[in-house]
Amino acid sequence: MSVIEIKHPLIEHKLTNLRNKYTDTKLFRESLNEIAGLMTYEATKDLEVKEVETETPLQMTITKVLSQPVTLVPILRAGLGMVEGILQFVPTAKVGHLGVYRNEETLEPVYYYAKMPSNVAESKVLIVDPMLATGGSVNYTIDYLKGVGVSNISFLCIIAAPEGIAKVVERHPDVDIYAACIDEGLNEHAYIYPGLGDAGDRIFGTK
Ligand code: PRP
Ligand code: URA
Repeated sequence: MSVIEIKHPLIEHKLTNLRNKYTDTKLFRESLNEIAGLMTYEATKDLEVKEVETETPLQMTITKVLSQPVTLVPILRAGLGMVEGILQFVPTAKVGHLGVYRNEETLEPVYYYAKMPSNVAESKVLIVDPMLATGGSVNYTIDYLKGVGVSNISFLCIIAAPEGIAKVVERHPDVDIYAACIDEGLNEHAYIYPGLGDAGDRIFGTK
């Protein structure tokens, strides 16, 4: 298991757009997908490949292609905001959906929906959600996926709180966590600070 904070000037620039409270929905969505795409390069570096024979215009040669199915699992709703950015680089990935929201009183995850591809257990699964706050939502999602036989899981988030990271590492030490930034902590409402506010509301223009 490892926790990887992906530091890159392009990511930091686009993260400023996400954090800025005056950023409109359009720029917020674009920046979120672009960061997710940039993070994909690092988060997929261990994907399995196999050798194939390929004929170039000059001769036959040995090249490599992906040999492992990949499934993205956005945690609804906010995880949806990262899917297109990742699919740009892994267009063959399937997408499973897991509906979990955080009860804002108890902070406990509340499950409402799941639909996974039939080969999810054999897949490399990338769970995506912009926010890792208390860790309740992603721990629920990892529990669910392991319960249906998935063993190879990574989690991509944009902003992570140290408290949430500790919870995931404690419960699921085998899962790699990739974050664009590890923030200072959680406030009294379990919101990440400085954070970016409510990711789902900012992506979908609700509230
Ligand atoms: C947000 C966020 C995560 C969760 C993080 O979703 O997108 O899923 O909160 O908090 P946690 O780590 O404390 O569980 P939210 O529950 O607001 O649902 P939404 O995406 O439908 O708005
Ligand atoms: N969910 C969000 O969208 N933002 C936070 O800061 C915490 C949970």
